[in-house]
Amino acid sequence: PKCQRLLGTSVILCGWVHRIRDKGGLLWIDLRDRYGVTQLILAEGTTTPALIQRARALGREYVLQVTGTVVERSAKNPQMPTGDIEVQVQQLVVLSASQTPPFLIETETDGGEELRMQYRYLDLRRRPLQDNLQLRHQVMQQTRQYLNEHQFMEIETPMLIKSTPEGARDFVVPSRMHPGQCYALPQSPQLFKQLLMIAGYDRYYQLVKCFRDEDLRADRQPEFTQIDCELSFVTQEDILDLFEGLIRHLAEAILHKKIAPFKRLTYADAMRLYGTDKPDLRLEMPFMELTTSLQGKGFQAFDEAALVAGICVKGCAGYTRKQIDALTDFVRQPLIGAKGLVYIKCLEAGRFKSSVDKFFDQEALSHCAKAMQAQPGDLLLILAGAAHATRQALGALRLQLGNDLGLRKASHWAPVWVVDFPLLAWDAAAQRYQARHHPFTAPQQQDISRLDTHPEAVRAHAYDLVINGVEVGGGSIRITDQAMQKQILRLLGFSEEEARQQFGFLLEALAYGTPPHGGIAIGLDRLCALLGDEDSIRPFIAFPKNNAGRDVMLQAPAVLVAEQWQALGIQPS
Ligand code: AMO
Repeated sequence: PKCQRLLGTSVILCGWVHRIRDKGGLLWIDLRDRYGVTQLILAEGTTTPALIQRARALGREYVLQVTGTVVERSAKNPQMPTGDIEVQVQQLVVLSASQTPPFLIETETDGGEELRMQYRYLDLRRRPLQDNLQLRHQVMQQTRQYLNEHQFMEIETPMLIKSTPEGARDFVVPSRMHPGQCYALPQSPQLFKQLLMIAGYDRYYQLVKCFRDEDLRADRQPEFTQIDCELSFVTQEDILDLFEGLIRHLAEAILHKKIAPFKRLTYADAMRLYGTDKPDLRLEMPFMELTTSLQGKGFQAFDEAALVAGICVKGCAGYTRKQIDALTDFVRQPLIGAKGLVYIKCLEAGRFKSSVDKFFDQEALSHCAKAMQAQPGDLLLILAGAAHATRQALGALRLQLGNDLGLRKASHWAPVWVVDFPLLAWDAAAQRYQARHHPFTAPQQQDISRLDTHPEAVRAHAYDLVINGVEVGGGSIRITDQAMQKQILRLLGFSEEEARQQFGFLLEALAYGTPPHGGIAIGLDRLCALLGDEDSIRPFIAFPKNNAGRDVMLQAPAVLVAEQWQALGIQPS
């Protein structure tokens, strides 16, 4: 029985008044702290009338210290760890009074998100947030334990630095001592960890804050935490193995869950089969390309398309008109932008019913079903149009079906390493190449000869860890040769002078005995959200920013007072 061993003992409890129930001569108080809730009882006969009177004046969220005796409850609550006992109060001290909180401090609260962020310290008193922070704490402890056991050293790197390009904008910190000059906050410790490899600290890690000034989403914050790692004298395989091991260790230690070996997909296959470099593999439904087989039958939407592709939805031939209309509306919404949706129902008798019966006879439909490996009872959904847009729309449709069919449950984990990313991406607006991962990522040996002729076709030694459609981490093998690093910077549009100015220290360091090295950074906040089964990372951060990047409790960012601007030598606009 729960808490049985405490029966009859005298205890001192401190905590917050969660709830009070007053039955005249009998008063119960639920006292809450980080560890849970304990029921206090004040009853005529065991407690003085004066004390009951004082207790009656208490309010929610008062902080109390009570002295009492643990007794068995008459009405037990099997849902609560302390549900078999209550504490008969003998003394009660109010350590602090409280105003009525602006929302209910309960698992199900009545406060909106903005209000709860303004009073984050009250929101953090609620059980779900306590559980989240506890989970984060465990993830951090278990991560350290795993990496320590694998000979990694935790080393801190500076926060006031010069820009490290990771694809976002920098947050900058003006310097008072050097008017007109600024530090940048790190987008990641990328260059420092590479310098640590050159310095001979061959296994480094850091649970580290990173800062990126970019558009925010549910899984992005302007400051977030990475499990940042770098290793020397290893291959890409060694890194993938070791970090697959970390994720398994965390899933087992925290969720007591064993996960199947991670899948592998090349970037090219991920795009071809799922239309995204972060496929959710909890559901199958790969894309099937049908361009040549469905063109030339007089159906204009197919004939004019660069790509015709579809997915086979198992066992859904029975979808009603209404269900198909809803999917059609889904792909037609402006954000997705498909013109229409073609369906083929594979009926039991080996016959077919489609939205394009006018153009395709039973034989043509049968041919298509075969190409898509469909069985009787399956539903085929087909989109057509420009290649990239069609893949994106089909990808969105695939996920929507996954939701509808309940295939995207958190209880199932589908991790995949996406490998062989292209080294570069063409930035049409800037009319130049950008590094897909970052400028320090090594091109694959067999593609190096194409750097000058077909830069866009060069694959990188870069990899992402994707779990359930979320990019949890990413890394690469690095360039260790000074000449190659210069060549890549040149390809990225840096003049020799700019390269020297921005990365001179790295280029120089590469010339002093650089071991082969590579690494990875895992988004700690995203990993926690995944382990805690939430879409947003905010609930796993003690004091997050809102969607507009503001801290609504502090009211930050804020303007500086005139003297501060002056000391920094800056004219506010
Ligand atoms: P990358 O830029 O891919 O790699 O970042 C690694 C991981 O960090 C997480 N992440 C974020 N999480 C929350 N909010 C954000 N704004 C945010 N941005 C990124 C993601 C992502 O996969 N230096 C390289 C790593 C390396 O090459 O070793 C880097 O930072 O989960």
